[in-house]
Amino acid sequence: MLQSSQSVVLHIVEDMDVVRVRAHVRSLASDMGFSLGDQTRLATAVSELSRNVLQYAGKGQCEIFCMALPSRSGLRLVFEDHGPGIADIDKAMQDGYSTSGGLGAGLPGTRRLVDEFSIESRPGLTRITIAMLRRHA
Ligand SMILES: Nc1ncnc2c1ncn2[C@@H]1O[C@H](COP(=O)(O)OP(=O)(O)O)[C@@H](O)[C@H]1O
Ligand SMILES: [Mg+2]
Repeated sequence: MLQSSQSVVLHIVEDMDVVRVRAHVRSLASDMGFSLGDQTRLATAVSELSRNVLQYAGKGQCEIFCMALPSRSGLRLVFEDHGPGIADIDKAMQDGYSTSGGLGAGLPGTRRLVDEFSIESRPGLTRITIAMLRRHA
């Protein structure tokens, strides 16, 4: 697990925030020396999770924890909302499962893109945590 040293909270309340959060994370990942491929993987994960926050909870936030040590660096992102919660997490993690007629690829796809993925959800609180480590050359 990453040790978190500092964090910033970005609020997700409208469509433009998805773009904003994605750009913020991407530029942070770039500054930290993540590969272009990993920047894109992270940006895609951020889009999916931010969209879910808007779509299923109306609003929420993304908290960004940054770890930068000579030996190891990475980003951990915690998406949190106070919406209805995910009724069945096992189903929600299956490819193609959607309660909204969507593709149902957001959560399982995101899990495949990152190094850490965890979900905590109950009515009134959904927290999805992802992390990506920087691969040192
Ligand atoms: N933040 C959330 N709050 C409540 N339910 C959620 C949330 N994120 C995802 N879900 C549930 O998990 C399902 C799967 O999500 P996802 O894989 O992104 O597919 P899609 O958004 O296309 O339906 C959604 O259909 C929804 O029921
Ligand atoms: Mg989705």
